[in-house]
Amino acid sequence: MQPVLDCVFIETTTACTRRCDFCTHAYIDIPPHFMHESLFLKIIADLGEMDFAGRLAFYLNGEPLLDTRLERWLRIAKTRCPKALHFINTNGDLLTPERAASLFAAGLDAMKVNSYTGKAVERLEHLKGQLPRDERHKILHSDATKITDWSSRGGVVTTTPKRPRPYPDTLCPRPFRQLYITVTGRVALCCTDDQCSHPMGDLATQSVREIWAGPAFAAVRQGFHERDRVPALCYDCDLDPSYSNVEQVRALFAPACASGDTSTPDLDHQGRQAGASAHLQPSLSLSST
Ligand SMILES: C[S@@+](CC[C@H](N)C(=O)[O-])C[C@H]1O[C@@H](n2cnc3c(N)ncnc32)[C@H](O)[C@@H]1O
Ligand code: SF4
Repeated sequence: MQPVLDCVFIETTTACTRRCDFCTHAYIDIPPHFMHESLFLKIIADLGEMDFAGRLAFYLNGEPLLDTRLERWLRIAKTRCPKALHFINTNGDLLTPERAASLFAAGLDAMKVNSYTGKAVERLEHLKGQLPRDERHKILHSDATKITDWSSRGGVVTTTPKRPRPYPDTLCPRPFRQLYITVTGRVALCCTDDQCSHPMGDLATQSVREIWAGPAFAAVRQGFHERDRVPALCYDCDLDPSYSNVEQVRALFAPACASGDTSTPDLDHQGRQAGASAHLQPSLSLSST
């Protein structure tokens, strides 16, 4: 598989309003840091220089709506990376009709709201009813109370019964498609590596392009192709290796707008189109690792 940068996550903050029992926030003391603006501007300049047209996700391990700079940063990102799909995942705790309007006005293309309690599900449905139709269609609401297959985040999350290597024969697309930038600018191997124990580079001293094409990612990708040299973390990973690429995410919105359909599209909690078998290509499946 050739590397194609399809999605960039930027952890603008690690602060959160919750401590969900399936999330590393409940297990590790994650200090509430906010990314320095100079680092954010540098990342966006790097992506602009690359003419980045994938999904630009403003979150990783925190709650993005706690960051009051978000709208201003969205405006900057929208100007420098106009072809990207500007996206957030949020728990919706701080979402109001006014905040939704200001985020969309600032350039947010879509958001996924994860409701983790019955009350939050009801609140979000009520809130959506108050929004104009064009804004409603930009919100993907997930009733996360129904989710039972949370990943163990490489063994950190213990509420999830450990499943012994459920996807041992599949080539994980993440190091070939996605870049995970932590709040300090260090780049992690993937979302399971949320403590950055497998650093791929540091944006304090390197560019996005350098890291993506650099030796750390090259070694991981080569290890996957050779099947028996994947990072230690990957042997314990129980995250479904499929995900929706930027075109699949864009397509979630287009039909509803064109047909006048008032329903809202959905992605599941791992970022795949709900109900879809979203493996990137059938050829990604390997017979053994
Ligand atoms: C860490 S959260 C950050 C954004 C925001 N606070 C939220 O909850 O939507 C990003 C995504 O990771 C998901 N997530 C958290 N813990 C997970 C786990 N153990 N397995 C799979 N997904 C997880 C969340 O449901 C959410 O979709
Ligand atoms: S899943 Fe989201 S809302 Fe829950 S603790 Fe983690 S970051 Fe916070």
